[in-house]
Order: sequence, then C-alpha cells, then structure tokens
Amino acid sequence: REAEHGLQLKNLVELFPIFADLDAQAREDLLLLFRPRTAAPGERIIRKGDRPDAAYFISKGGVQVSVGGREIPLGPGEFFGEMALLSGARRSADVTATDYCQLLMLDQREFRTFVARHPRLREHLDELAAQRSAMNRDG
Ligand code: CMP
Repeated sequence: REAEHGLQLKNLVELFPIFADLDAQAREDLLLLFRPRTAAPGERIIRKGDRPDAAYFISKGGVQVSVGGREIPLGPGEFFGEMALLSGARRSADVTATDYCQLLMLDQREFRTFVARHPRLREHLDELAAQRSAMNRDG
C-alpha cells in the first residue's frame, strides 16, 4: 500500500524527533501505517474519559490540550493520544484543534504492535507520558 499522506521518509525524522532511533525499515513501515486526518479550528479530536482509538502526530497546525484547568499548546512535530494507548486507561484530557491541522493517525492496534517491536521508542514514549502525567498531577 502506498502512503497517501505525502510525508516522505527523509522528512519523518526531521519532523518527529521521537522517531530518530528507528532504522530505515522501521521508518518505512511506519509511513505505511499512518493514516491522514484533518481537523478544523475548534474541532475536538479527543474527549477526556473516552476509550482510546488512536494516537495522533501533528504535521501541520496546532492543538490545545485541556487538563486541570490549563491549556497546553502542541504543534508540528509533537503528538498526542499516546498516553491512553500506553497505559490502557481512558483519555486523560480534551484535545481541540486551534488551527487547520494535518494529523497522522496511528490506530491503537498498529501503535501497540509497533511500539512492542521497538523498545527504545517505547522507552521514550513512556518517559514523556510520565512527564505529562506528573505535570497534570502537580497542577
Ligand atoms: P491521552 O490520555 O490518550 O489523551 C489525551 C492526550 O493529551 C494524552 O494522551 C496526551 O497525549 C495529551 N496530554 C495530556 N496531558 C498532557 C500534558 N501535560 N502535556 C502535553 N500533552 C498532554
């Protein structure tokens, strides 16, 4: 299957430092797993308390994570929706588009299989998720 999101292999790591440790084959696999999705300003992409369906990587635009009365902006090269997939919990926050966004979605099944095969990626994702949830606890 050909990747339809227009992201090229050489741009993957430039845009998403989290994938820097992956070898060329793994990066190619990943490009085939991503599904493109757009979002318009004001669109809620994730609702707190929902069961997770996918993780989202931002290639253009921006979103706002609303948690504990705070708003945390995320932009190109960042990602969201990974925490519930890693932990098995419900969604920890609302996530709303603040601009027109181009997102790359990774469905939970593919996400879980992929990170299970790439332990260093899993470690980095776990570290970031731990920082994010600590931030949410400490307010
Ligand atoms: P998840 O819990 O699946 O859904 C909500 C998402 O918001 C969460 O995954 C993270 O990707 C993101 N998120 C939650 N808390 C923070 C935070 N403190 N900083 C940045 N992103 C966060």
